[in-house]
Amino acid sequence: MAKLFTEFQLKNLKLKNRIFMAPMCMYMASFDGLFTPWHYVHYLTRSIGGVGSIIIEATAISPEGRITEADLGFYQDEQVELFQNLIKEAHKNKTAIGIQLGHAGRKSQTGGKIIAPSSIPYPGLKTPEAMTKTMINEVIRAFGKAAARAERASFDFIEIHAAHGYLINQFLSPLTNKRNDEYGRNKSLFFQEIILEIRKFWPPEKALLVRVSAEEYHPEGNHPEDISKILKEIPGIDLVDVSSGGVINVKIDTYPNYQVGFSETIKKQTGLPTIAGGLITKAEEANSILESGQADLIYLGRELLRNPYFALRSSKELKQEIEWPKPYIRAK
Ligand SMILES: Cc1cc2nc3c(=O)[nH]c(=O)nc-3n(C[C@H](O)[C@H](O)[C@H](O)COP(=O)(O)O)c2cc1C
Repeated sequence: MAKLFTEFQLKNLKLKNRIFMAPMCMYMASFDGLFTPWHYVHYLTRSIGGVGSIIIEATAISPEGRITEADLGFYQDEQVELFQNLIKEAHKNKTAIGIQLGHAGRKSQTGGKIIAPSSIPYPGLKTPEAMTKTMINEVIRAFGKAAARAERASFDFIEIHAAHGYLINQFLSPLTNKRNDEYGRNKSLFFQEIILEIRKFWPPEKALLVRVSAEEYHPEGNHPEDISKILKEIPGIDLVDVSSGGVINVKIDTYPNYQVGFSETIKKQTGLPTIAGGLITKAEEANSILESGQADLIYLGRELLRNPYFALRSSKELKQEIEWPKPYIRAK
């Protein structure tokens, strides 16, 4: 049996196969970060297309935590019901569905307040205000409130966005965190406190994922070994979604599997299961990463934008019998 189509279980998260839809901002939210018919159709199509799991795009825990004004937010109670409708439908296809919670920090371009661990701008963007302890506590509490909403909406898992140079990554990175207080001496403290706060509202039997930038592409930035060390010290993390870059403005040399080695290092050094991805376009490529033991799960981003039915098609390529949605069986 091709490993890509084997089941995977983590706490009470049950996956029918090992294909994740990567979180991808659609910049299609309506006024004040609300979910729209675009999102409903976009996500449900990939669910019908057979992915084991969907990670909803970066969704901000506060209005100024959005990257742009067209981002989704989860600071509004009315968002719960909108997500619920999608989750119910996705579950009919046995697709697990989670949400990526984040804060853009110094990369926010909403026109609102711009905050960061230190007052250092991202090239081309406005200079952020260095966060006071009160501001830090406000953000931590907002993550908890968003987690409570995620639980009310019946999400299967939460993914914390600690990658791509957004706020949590800004605290983790020595390139952007130049603080002299406890949040500078211990660069993972902010991240740890967010996880603790989320766990107050997110049941222990439900999976908590984190997305990290394993490599910051700068000699003084974090590397997979540094990120592994941070992850090992933080309790409450169940699964690591491995990405890279975004902290500084640097051109990355990308090619198929360019991030898979990072996943392998993190998996080995932390003992946590990982999701690997980046430029994967073929079923055989995805399957061989799993067979080699470099990751437990695979994420696909742009390939799923081109082909929402990747999973259904891949099952044929890997000669794997899987259940198709009933109305589509005549196309099998
Ligand atoms: C349109 C688009 C939006 C993205 N938005 C997010 C996001 O919201 N959160 C995130 O962690 N990564 C985001 N990414 C990165 C993807 O999740 C993924 O890691 C990246 O595209 C590499 O995978 P791929 O080569 O399969 O596309 C985005 C990528 C694309 C193409």
